[in-house]
Amino acid sequence: MFKVIENQLLAPHLHRLVIEAPRIASARQAGQFVIVRSGDGGERIPLTIGDANRSRGSITLFIQAIGAGTRKIAETEPGSYIQDIAGPWGQPTHLEKWGRVACVGGGVGTAVLFPLVRALHEAGNQVTSVIGGRSRDFIILEEELARFSAKVVVATEDGSYGRQGFVTLELAEMLEDPLRCPDAVFAVGPVPMMKAVCEQTRPAGIPTIVSLNPIMIDGTGMCGGCRVQIGGQAKFACVDGPEFDGHLVDFASLIDRLSMYKDHECRLVS
Ligand code: NAD
Ligand code: FES
Repeated sequence: MFKVIENQLLAPHLHRLVIEAPRIASARQAGQFVIVRSGDGGERIPLTIGDANRSRGSITLFIQAIGAGTRKIAETEPGSYIQDIAGPWGQPTHLEKWGRVACVGGGVGTAVLFPLVRALHEAGNQVTSVIGGRSRDFIILEEELARFSAKVVVATEDGSYGRQGFVTLELAEMLEDPLRCPDAVFAVGPVPMMKAVCEQTRPAGIPTIVSLNPIMIDGTGMCGGCRVQIGGQAKFACVDGPEFDGHLVDFASLIDRLSMYKDHECRLVS
């Protein structure tokens, strides 16, 4: 059993949970995730470990309450318990000193981006974080990212905060400017966003890493649920990823697989 210490609503339906999990807090590395189950028979939800405090023995998870399973976890009150948290799973982020790194986060994906920004900064990179959302209410972690970024650029689709448009607009300008052009790009967010970022960086061959979020079941490489096509080969996001070279990802098959259970999920929610 894992005790929830804090539960904060960051944006509509998006909760930040701080949970007592000392073993995971001391073992985790940036880019890894846990699988969370609220109780017996509950859905198994993969969640990136957003942050960890070793001395406090706690981990931070960001969870968007979009389905029956995620809602149950997101609504756990401080002082209450979550039954199972297994992990850390997945490959840690591959860290290098690239120089200038652009970290692009779309909506909820910004929460997954946060530990990467921190780790890239600590590895000696100059990070520019570009984060976007539908409107001001959906912009998250701007202050936290600023602690580890040389600059944070915000884009909202309705122009209610920061510049108006998609995150890719800012990235396009950075790619055109020799003084700002990144040596590597990390992108986390909706699949169409990650695909668009990869198409932007492909012509110049700028290394681009994306964090994929296919459906996961066991999280241990046994069930095949999280299968993705990378450079023509089948890989399992839970053990081989979740981060991959974006230029090798078959985004069309990922979109297909992600939409397989949409109707079922809608029936559970309604
Ligand atoms: P959203 O649809 O509101 O988009 C957020 C921002 O992403 C937009 O404001 C825009 O700046 C950018 N974006 C979206 N589509 C784009 C496109 N076609 N081209 C360029 N930029 C684009 O996002 P949301 O509702 O907060 O996020 C939900 C989605 O994110 C879900 O599909 C979820 O599965 C995915 N997600 C992915 C990860 C991951 O690890 N990759 C993690 C969490 C959530
Ligand atoms: Fe089962 Fe990855 S979730 S193989």
